[in-house]
Amino acid sequence: MKQLSKIIKKNVIRAILFAIPLTGFGKTPARIVSVNGTISEILADIGLENNIVGTDITSNYPVSLKSKPKVGHNRNISAEGILALKPEVVTGLTTDVKPELVAQLKSAGVKLELFNQEYSSAGTRKLIREVAAKFGRQQQAETIIKKLDADLAAAGKIKKAATKPKVLFIYARGTGTMMVSGTNTPVEKIIQLAGGENAVKGFTDYKPLTPEALILANPDVILLFDSGMQSLGGVQGLSQVKGIAQTNAGKNQKFITMDGELLTSFGPRLGLAINELAQKIK
Ligand code: HEM
Repeated sequence: MKQLSKIIKKNVIRAILFAIPLTGFGKTPARIVSVNGTISEILADIGLENNIVGTDITSNYPVSLKSKPKVGHNRNISAEGILALKPEVVTGLTTDVKPELVAQLKSAGVKLELFNQEYSSAGTRKLIREVAAKFGRQQQAETIIKKLDADLAAAGKIKKAATKPKVLFIYARGTGTMMVSGTNTPVEKIIQLAGGENAVKGFTDYKPLTPEALILANPDVILLFDSGMQSLGGVQGLSQVKGIAQTNAGKNQKFITMDGELLTSFGPRLGLAINELAQKIK
């Protein structure tokens, strides 16, 4: 009996918590600018796509977000574009917004809602819950996480290669902008989750690709965004980049591509991304 009343009490409290949209703002903001693709995707998933009045250019999922006004790349956002959209709230990751931009937005009276992201399954669940809670949609977070967990379980069942393939990620915007990803980047983390290892080490963030480093790293697999591969003119263009032909990946033509936002976002589609990458690097 005591046990039963405990369960009822617990469920009543739960129902009340989920029924009241407890936003961190009092009411749900009608004009949101999101400067991060993962946050935009979570906002759309919790039913707030119509409240988004602008995004950065990595916010491309769901595809309908592509038609929202753009305020720049999340690595280089300017205040003017954001302020022109008259937002009530600007949201993104702490790493997206430089101190100068924070000061400019605050002095214009815009509320900032920034989140920290950890590139792991647990970090993804935490981010989804935090964003949903801040915008008063706790219940939707649990639905998203249920699907995420099912996708992660499916990805976990994929048979991995006996030896971890060395994967080199190249961020390309034409041959003039080619960078490789170092430690603690989302790309390194997802390569590891998919059963591979980063072919380059010893630096954080991204650094320009050099033919010497490429040959030394000797990757088994070269990974690019779909858009990155296109910017080089496809496989033919990539094969002509200095150093590529001397690597195992070049000799075996083991070049793979994925949608950039899916690969790097560590958001609701993380399980699908790991699944796709694990199949492709085998
Ligand atoms: C020199 C630095 C960078 C430049 C000049 C740059 C430039 C660009 C441009 C022009 C686009 C739009 C492309 C299109 O719509 O086809 C884009 C999209 C994107 N960028 Fe960057 N970017 C840089 C660094 C990065 C880094 C380090 C990341 C993280 C891995 C990143 C992630 C993305 C993503 C996810 C997209 C979304 C569209 C896609 O899949 O291509 N960018 N970037």
